[in-house]
Amino acid sequence: MCGIVAYVGHRDAAPLILKGLKRLEYRGYDSAGIALLNGALNVYKKKGKVKDLEEAIAHETLQSTIGIGHTRWATHGEPNDRNAHPHYSASKNLAIIHNGIIENYSSIKKNLIKKGHEFHSDTDSEVFVHFIEDIQINAGCTLEEAVRLAMKEVVGAYAIVVMDATNPTQLIAARKGSPLVIGVGEKEFFFASDATPIIEYTHEMIYLNDYEIAVVRDGELTVKNIDNALQSPYIQTVELELEAIEKGGYEHFMLKEIFEQPRSVADCLRGRVNADNGHLVLGGLREYTDKLAKAKRIVIVACGTSWHAGLVAEYLFEELARINVEVEYASEFRYRNPIIKEGDFVIAISQSGETADTLAAIELAKSKGATIIGVCNVVGSSIPRATHAGAYTHAGPEIGVASTKAFTAQVIVLTQMAIAVARKKGSLHEDTFRRLLFELERIPHKIETVLQSDGKIKEIAEKFKDARNFIYLGRGYNFPVALEGALKLKEISYIHAEGYPAAEMKHGPIALIDAEMPVVFIATKDSSYDKVVSNIQEVKARKGQVIAIVTEGDKLIPTMADYVVEIPAMHEALIPLVSVIPLQLLSYHIAVMRGCNVDQPRNLAKSVTVE
Ligand code: M6R
Repeated sequence: MCGIVAYVGHRDAAPLILKGLKRLEYRGYDSAGIALLNGALNVYKKKGKVKDLEEAIAHETLQSTIGIGHTRWATHGEPNDRNAHPHYSASKNLAIIHNGIIENYSSIKKNLIKKGHEFHSDTDSEVFVHFIEDIQINAGCTLEEAVRLAMKEVVGAYAIVVMDATNPTQLIAARKGSPLVIGVGEKEFFFASDATPIIEYTHEMIYLNDYEIAVVRDGELTVKNIDNALQSPYIQTVELELEAIEKGGYEHFMLKEIFEQPRSVADCLRGRVNADNGHLVLGGLREYTDKLAKAKRIVIVACGTSWHAGLVAEYLFEELARINVEVEYASEFRYRNPIIKEGDFVIAISQSGETADTLAAIELAKSKGATIIGVCNVVGSSIPRATHAGAYTHAGPEIGVASTKAFTAQVIVLTQMAIAVARKKGSLHEDTFRRLLFELERIPHKIETVLQSDGKIKEIAEKFKDARNFIYLGRGYNFPVALEGALKLKEISYIHAEGYPAAEMKHGPIALIDAEMPVVFIATKDSSYDKVVSNIQEVKARKGQVIAIVTEGDKLIPTMADYVVEIPAMHEALIPLVSVIPLQLLSYHIAVMRGCNVDQPRNLAKSVTVE
């Protein structure tokens, strides 16, 4: 999704903003732009990457201590130079950068056109800045007041920063539904869509709330709400290290993040699990474990990979805690008339904490009286702030668009939740409880072991890099893993891939199988093992190419499969945490071999803040 970076202070704004925009590249974008006060209010923008913009403006004198910059992921209007941000107001005295969507922009635009406004792009954002200026002129008010009045009229989601040629020390920002972070330095302020462009300058940050307006003028910051009441913003110290958002010697962020999983999973367990003394506590859920244990029904809402983590949780909660679970795509849930009753629990899962559909699903469920539990990675993001309670996944920043370490961190948090609830409920035998804790503590080491198969997986990738289709099959806990493996492959290598429950193959997909079809089986030693072995035979009988993820020491499947990757043995409920690793590596290597942009696949955004 779009990215915002803005600065006002004593530094050279242009290089700072351009560097910040590069830090936001992972969000996905198709054009970039910057506005500076260098003589006049000048806007420079270009379709393509930030480096294309840099090349295009290399000959310009860009000296300015104030500026706004943007990476755009097209919603209204095609990706081109015209539609890139920043956008000027009619007089060109104002420039805006905007993330989100203004739903009523076309009616506002029609009125402005009647008044003689001319537009130079197809965007809702240009309409927004014209509208603000129109209000300012008609009401004869300050820019801050005009922004406030405009916010009362526009419908939709936005994070904006507005710059004013007539006021060279002033930036005005506002938010509703799209994230905006303010970095607070010594007489300098940074604005960004997330902390990553700011962290190298300050750890002190303010997460702006919905319907708040921040004004920096002459080195002072004030925050007001939409009713003009002064707010006391909470300045928090963000514990994020610069190394966490850099590649650290890896060729791609995705590879770095795959290899970080022993650490990220260990971080997620630290202080929460201690098998020696039977300790399992999720701090943020302490008060809610009891209530969850009494729940008749849990609804999980999420999108994409997070939805797959939710499916794993369905198996966990049902098997361990014997609670009825429904897993919903947030985007469907919000537009149905879902049956949610007071007393229901909704678990919202999101890496970014900003996914618009998941946020909307939360608001809907809340309005119907449900208690909302969040499982999020980005601290301080919108979803954790919208929930009643929750647990962070502590995976650290995930920059690659394809979710890897966020998935395992989500699953490990959900596993801990399910075990804690089951324990409270009394549905888990003491021995099983102890065994699960013991095994949980060993998961980082098991992931480490699987990562050592990277070379072998790369060889398999070499064989299949030109395939046009893939099928992924698994049963029970490995069914969501099959879906996740297929998603990983299609999103970064653009190979068509389908995930299915292995037994479901007979009801359709088996027709696709021939000698050209690679079929990835997640065929670990678990309660479905014998059934999956039969499914492998069915594929081999039709000459399909089988790549099998098996449990260490399996003697049978290697006699049938074309390629085998072993993972260590473990309790069935924990297998997804480890069986997904070879699938992440397989998709990574195939995508690299096909020359794809692994970290920023086409058309995709890291956090989908529009519906
Ligand atoms: O930030 P979220 O977890 O809410 O994002 C949901 C999906 O957009 C996300 O999981 C997406 O499917 C992954 N990037 C795929 O790898």
